[in-house]
Amino acid sequence: MVFHDVIIIGAGLAGMRAAVEAAKRGLNVAVVSKVHPVRSHSVAAQGGINAAMKSTDNWEDHAFDTVKGADYIGDQEAIETMCREAPEDILELERMGAIFSRDETGQIAQRPFGGAGYPRTCYLADRTGHSMLHVIYEQVLKFGVPIYEEWHVVKLFTEEGTVKGIIAYELATGKLHRLNAKSVILATGGYGRIFRTTTNALTSTGDGMGLALDAGAPLMDMEFVQFHPTVLDRTGILITEGARGEGGYLLNSKGERFMEKYAPNKLELASRDVVARAEQTEINEGRGIEGCVHLDLRHLGAEKINELLPQIRELSMNFAGVDPIVEPIPIHPGAHYSMGGVMTDVNGATPINGLYSAGESACVSVHGANRLGGNSLLDTIVFGRRTGIAASEYAADTTYEAADIDPALADASNEIATILNRNDGELTNTIKEEMQQVMQVKCSVYREETTLTECLDTILDLRERYKNVSLANSSDTYNTELVSCLELGYMLDIALCTVKGALNREESRGAHSRLDFPARNDNKWMKHTLIHKAGEDFNISYRDVSFTKYEPTERKY
Ligand code: FUM
Repeated sequence: MVFHDVIIIGAGLAGMRAAVEAAKRGLNVAVVSKVHPVRSHSVAAQGGINAAMKSTDNWEDHAFDTVKGADYIGDQEAIETMCREAPEDILELERMGAIFSRDETGQIAQRPFGGAGYPRTCYLADRTGHSMLHVIYEQVLKFGVPIYEEWHVVKLFTEEGTVKGIIAYELATGKLHRLNAKSVILATGGYGRIFRTTTNALTSTGDGMGLALDAGAPLMDMEFVQFHPTVLDRTGILITEGARGEGGYLLNSKGERFMEKYAPNKLELASRDVVARAEQTEINEGRGIEGCVHLDLRHLGAEKINELLPQIRELSMNFAGVDPIVEPIPIHPGAHYSMGGVMTDVNGATPINGLYSAGESACVSVHGANRLGGNSLLDTIVFGRRTGIAASEYAADTTYEAADIDPALADASNEIATILNRNDGELTNTIKEEMQQVMQVKCSVYREETTLTECLDTILDLRERYKNVSLANSSDTYNTELVSCLELGYMLDIALCTVKGALNREESRGAHSRLDFPARNDNKWMKHTLIHKAGEDFNISYRDVSFTKYEPTERKY
């Protein structure tokens, strides 16, 4: 029997940060990842990580900005925890070896980001996630944590409300493996890939959320999906908010700096939901440029662009043929971040004993209806650490009672064999592309009952068709088509949760913007959406929001 005290699914920042804590405590910890760790999606984070580092800033202001950015539906106790602990976590990253960009006094430099009342985003040029991920990976290597690499988890095994282990498919051999564990942390990232245009990696398919749903854990606030305002035309490539933080302008086809109309005080640095809606409105009302608006950096000058935004320049030149030193960049909103996820407390615990989640796969909830830029890297580091500690303490205090995982293994094996042996069904990509298209068009920046209902019907139909999915490749080794097919099962469940939550929530709040219910309605909707899977049914219930001292007011930027 292969056994670990703690198994972490996902090798992005949250997962590896948690692994470091378990390893430090001398526990037998392992990481399971469907890609090599430094290919995890955290590597793509560009603009930075928030923390009140300076004596002229303070964590309470960071907390207030976060609560307001979340449109008042974030849990305030969790937000306070994150913002209070942020500065020490940044210093810890430095001690691990992260070389943050510096200001003229030699202190960690901080740039302005959207929705923030102070320039509190620490950064490493425009490659912050890349650098942080490599630094944490070095720590994982230093502690000798075993990594099951290119293993895709297909089931969580639970018994009487307690997690007992996982079943994973090894891509190189096509074998299914049982790994027993006292605690399991889901750190699998978000689900941007349910949309057609997304900044997310191909791997962001919501696996952890799908596993949690199947195991009986609730997902929370799935209707809140962030559309990043600056995604490079037709590519899904992120153009960091740091570009606006450094002074970039947004222009419409008339050359107008249109944010003056929508957010007269913060302009391009209003919160992301506000900027994405403004762009979409300009495009919808005929003031776009071939489905885009322009991000203009020319006035920043070559030196600043080359020093602070080198990757943005390179990406714009390589993928849009545009050099931002001499031309504006064509951009539009694109799916970027899932505020919702597996419901957890501030220690990453879910309602299932021994099951935890951290990072984008979790909903603590610190981002509410709209996350502030720079708070996602922070979430991975603060809650990755806290969850690693909690899952380790749980494992240390628990005696493992061996469970019979064989029936679950046999089920997983039969499910895979059925897919491999079927040869008259529809291909994964046909179903996936229809899902991505309908989510993109009907559950996007703007939503309303008619489009959401159509979207729901299509997703339900696609779930039926998925029961007859088949593959072109029946190989036992490196069958990436099989993995993609298994991922699609999770994605369809996640899409259903997203649309159902959006259809039920008859108000506009943060990134959830209903044309038919344009106002926020605190009397009726100041509550979190929970969704449980029970067989074929997805049941919605609601939960109170936790408040400390920040009273909901009208949100203006
Ligand atoms: O725009 C960006 O660099 C993205 C940052 C974030 O999502 O936090």
